[in-house]
Amino acid sequence: MKKIKTLQCIRCGKDHKLTEAKYNCTACGGNLQVLYDYNLIKKRLNFDVLNDNPERSIWRYLDILPIASIKNVPPVQVGWTPLYKAEKLGDEAGVPNLYIKDDGRNPSASFKDRASAVVVGRALELEEKVITCASTGNAASSLACLTGSLDMKTVIFVPETAPAPKVAQLLVYGAAVVMVKGTYDDAFELCLKASQEYGWYNRSTGINPFTREGKKTCAFEICEQLKWETPDKVFVPVGDGNIISGIWKGFVEFHRLGIIERLPQMVAVQAEHSDSVKRAFETGTDVQPVSGKTIADSISVSLPRDGLAAVMAIRDSQGFAVSVTDEEILQAIPRIARGSNVFAEPAASATYSGLLKAVREGKVKENESVVLLITGNGLKDVQSAMKSVGKPYVIKPELSELKKLVADQKLA
Ligand SMILES: Cc1ncc(COP(=O)(O)O)c(C=O)c1O
Ligand SMILES: [Zn+2]
Repeated sequence: MKKIKTLQCIRCGKDHKLTEAKYNCTACGGNLQVLYDYNLIKKRLNFDVLNDNPERSIWRYLDILPIASIKNVPPVQVGWTPLYKAEKLGDEAGVPNLYIKDDGRNPSASFKDRASAVVVGRALELEEKVITCASTGNAASSLACLTGSLDMKTVIFVPETAPAPKVAQLLVYGAAVVMVKGTYDDAFELCLKASQEYGWYNRSTGINPFTREGKKTCAFEICEQLKWETPDKVFVPVGDGNIISGIWKGFVEFHRLGIIERLPQMVAVQAEHSDSVKRAFETGTDVQPVSGKTIADSISVSLPRDGLAAVMAIRDSQGFAVSVTDEEILQAIPRIARGSNVFAEPAASATYSGLLKAVREGKVKENESVVLLITGNGLKDVQSAMKSVGKPYVIKPELSELKKLVADQKLA
């Protein structure tokens, strides 16, 4: 593919040809990033081309994606999700220029569809027969969704504790599902061994250099939806660190192409016991394992698989990291819903808790524009959502009973 210049190791800088490395750096094992011939791309991708492009999905950015043609992509709409100005929520947070990027609106109801779409497109071009993935849940359900109608076997490894709605998605879409008695990290290692043993194409985060490519499209959309303005800060929930590094890469690439004039600050939001990236960023040390325990299953990660790239994204963007408690994460679910009409799963609601904390600590100024990335829909984890709200009233189907509730001022 002429547009791709190199697969470069983010740790040691070694360059690889596209045909030379499928997953990690052949010298040091570090994660790879795809770098393009930006001069070539500049001729094809600019304001005018984008303004005139009727495609409303991630494929409007095909010129800067590692896929040769859209003949080879899953037949559902991924990306071009809404960006809402969240007036009420913004007023409550003391940040009037608050935006919500609702990525729960993707086909499998999470941001992960962006990555899976690109990786599946790549797998089809490579004529892979079996694709595999380890996941806290969403990457897997998105892979199962996007391969659902394709002639490609999908083998999924998830921790036994993955929420039932995500497991239901996997089974409905026809993936073979292996539930591992252990954590996400255990599932990850087993998936890696399976991929090595059987030659299955591995979509797992951190291993596969193309996931970040799909994820960066969200940054492109934010720029377009803000009429080419860059937001001041983007709050991203962080587990493995692949979303935040992908989004940062998107902003950097649009900047390099001259499409935007300045870069935003990236803010990593982590759960307090799953805060490996935050610790590494703040102490300047390597990414180390932590317990990873949190109710927000999607960001429950002991050892982040793209931690170095995440730390680099925070550092290079002059951003910061914030951690929040499970209680704050739960409280944020109804607050986002009532302040912006968007139902977020716990990992995604963490962004709002993170914003409130950052405001309290004076790290966000009132006049700044802020985007919260809502990475997953609330229906993905109804059990947690129910913990964040009261119980419904249960009555006999009689007006007299209803009248009692009204008299007690319970309804309106
Ligand atoms: C809803 C949601 N938010 C956030 C994340 C965290 O992304 P990353 O692991 O790339 O940091 C995930 C990953 O599974 C997710 O599914
Ligand atoms: Zn390397």
